[in-house]
Amino acid sequence: MSKKASWVSRFSFYLLAVGSACGLGNIWRFPYVIGENGGGAFLLLYIFLAFTVGLSILVAELILGRSGEFSLLKITKLVSLQAKKPFYWFGRLSILINVVILAYYSVISGWVLHYLTQFIVGIVNENRIAYISSINMEALKNSGSLQFSLASVHLLICGFVVAKGVIERFEKIFAQALPILAVLFIVLIIRSFSLDSTSDVMRFLFYPDFSKLNLSSLGRALGHVFFTLSLGMGIMVTYGTYFKNDEHLPSVGFRVTTIDTIVSIMALLMVFPIAFLSDSNHYFTDPGILFESLPRLFVKIQYGEFFGFLFFLCLWLAAVNASIGLLETLIANFSDKFHKISRNQSTFMTITGVLLLMIFPAFSGTLFSKFKWFNQSFMENLDSLLINYLLPISGLGIIVIFFHLLNETERKEKFIDATGKNSQAMYRHWIWILKWFSPVLIGLAILLQFINLFR
Ligand code: TRP
Repeated sequence: MSKKASWVSRFSFYLLAVGSACGLGNIWRFPYVIGENGGGAFLLLYIFLAFTVGLSILVAELILGRSGEFSLLKITKLVSLQAKKPFYWFGRLSILINVVILAYYSVISGWVLHYLTQFIVGIVNENRIAYISSINMEALKNSGSLQFSLASVHLLICGFVVAKGVIERFEKIFAQALPILAVLFIVLIIRSFSLDSTSDVMRFLFYPDFSKLNLSSLGRALGHVFFTLSLGMGIMVTYGTYFKNDEHLPSVGFRVTTIDTIVSIMALLMVFPIAFLSDSNHYFTDPGILFESLPRLFVKIQYGEFFGFLFFLCLWLAAVNASIGLLETLIANFSDKFHKISRNQSTFMTITGVLLLMIFPAFSGTLFSKFKWFNQSFMENLDSLLINYLLPISGLGIIVIFFHLLNETERKEKFIDATGKNSQAMYRHWIWILKWFSPVLIGLAILLQFINLFR
C-alpha cells in the first residue's frame, strides 16, 4: 500500500477512479440508451438511480478496497470460508463479466480507431469537406474482419501498456488529453446549440414524458448506472486500496458520480442537436448514433477535420484507460490463481482469451447476423445480458460481501469522517439503500425486464 501510495498523488487517485468511470459508456453508450428509451423521463430515472443505488455501491466498493486491500476475488474467497457459504461464485461471476465486457469494449474502441484514421485521411485529403461528409459506419457494418482487426490493435496496445509497466507514463499522457477533451466538448456543444433543432432537443431531454417508460426501462437505467460507474466488477475495490487513509471515501464517491453524470449529460447535448436535424430518425436508437452524427457536426466547424481527429484521439485514450483497468484486474486475478505463471505469461494468456472471445461481438453484424433472439441482434442481446442483467446481479454480490466482511462498528468508522461533517443520518440512509432499497430495485428490474421479453 505505502509503495503504491507514494507514486500517485491525490490527483492521480481521482484520475484513476474518474478515468475508469468516464469513457465510452458516457459518450458512446449513454446517448443511444437515452434515444432508445424516449428521453427526459428515462434521464430522470437514470440520475435518481445513479445517486442512490450507484453511489451507495460505489462507496461500498471503495470502502471494501480500503479495508481489505485485496482483489474482489480474494475477498469473496475469504468471506466464503468465514461464512461457509459459496460466495466465491460472485467472484467468479465478476471475472466472467470482466472478460466479456473487455472483449465487447475493445470492439467499440476499434470503431473509435476507425474514425480516428478516417479523420487523419480527412486532414490530408484535398477535398476535406466532401471527405468528412462521407465518413460513416458502412465499412464497419459490412466487415466483421475490419472490426476484429481494429479491436485487436486496440487490445494489443493495451496489453503492451500493461505488460511493459508503462501505465504511469500512459496516465500522464491521458491526464494531458483530458483538458483537451473538455475544451473540445464545450466547443462542440456550443456549435450544436446554434443548430435549428435545439428547442426540440431540450424538450426531448428535459421534459419528462413518463408514458415513454416501459417494463424494461428500470433495468436499462440500472444497468447503465453500473456500467458507467464501473461497478460490480471490483474495479473500484482495487482503486479503493490506492486512496490514502485520510481521504473521505463517501465524498470521493459523490464527486466521481457527479463528474460522471455531468460528462454523460454533456455527451447528450453534443450528440442530439445534430441527430435531430436529420430527417430520418432511424439511428436515434442505434448504437451508431455518436459515430453517425459527429462527422456531420465537424463538417460545420472550421478546421473540423483537425478537431475531429483530436476528439477521436482523446476518446480513444479514454477507452484505452478504461480497458487497462479491466485488463489489469483480469491479469491480477489470473496471477493470483496460478502462482507459478509469470506476469508476462498471464498477460499473454489473458489477451489470447479475450481475442478469441472478441470474434463474437466483432462478427455479430455479419457472420452471426442470423442469430436473432427477442427481435434483437446478437450484439444487442450480449449487451443486454451483460449490462442489464449480470452487472446488477454482480452488484448484489458486492452488497452481500460487504455486509459479511464488515461489522457495524467497522462500517461506521469507515463512513463517518473525522470532522463529523457527515452525520449519522447520512450513514443510516446509506445502509438503508444498500440493505433494502438496492436489492429490491435490482430484483424488480430483473423481473420486469424478464416479463417484458416474453410479452
Ligand atoms: N465505466 C466505463 C465507461 O463508462 C467502462 C468500464 C470501465 C467498466 N471499467 C469497467 C464498466 C468495469 C463496468 C465495469 O466507459
